[in-house]
This record gives sequence, structure tokens and C-alpha cells, in this order.
Amino acid sequence: GESVLYLAHRCDIDLEGACESSLACSTCHVYVSTEFLDKLPDPDEREDDMLDMAPLLQENSRLGCQII
Ligand code: FES
Repeated sequence: GESVLYLAHRCDIDLEGACESSLACSTCHVYVSTEFLDKLPDPDEREDDMLDMAPLLQENSRLGCQII
């Protein structure tokens, strides 16, 4: 799908995605501006679990491959 991760790669933005969107890594970790954060559905439990492993976790952290 056209996730943030997919779009980043299309735009030559250097965002990793080691597990290819299968929710098995946290290398696609991104910060979402608060302006857009409210417009996204809340992360599901699997995303939350992976996010917990991401370094420098913030309130507005999400996994890029899960934002569609
Ligand atoms: Fe691995 Fe997003 S690419 S969780």
C-alpha cells in the first residue's frame, strides 16, 4: 500500500524499513507533526508493541509502514 514508508522511498527519503512493513522491526519509526497526528487512527497493539522498541520514542512516534 501507499504507506508513509512507501512514499518516503518514492521520494528518496532515507527511511529504513528493514522488515518490509511486516511489523517486525522499528526501523521505519517516524515523528508525526501534531497537526496530523489527530487525523490518524490510533496505532493498534502490534504497532504499539514494536514502537516500544524504537529508540527516542516520543508522544508523536509512529511506524511509517503503518500509516496509510
Ligand atoms: Fe518494519 Fe515498519 S518496516 S515495522
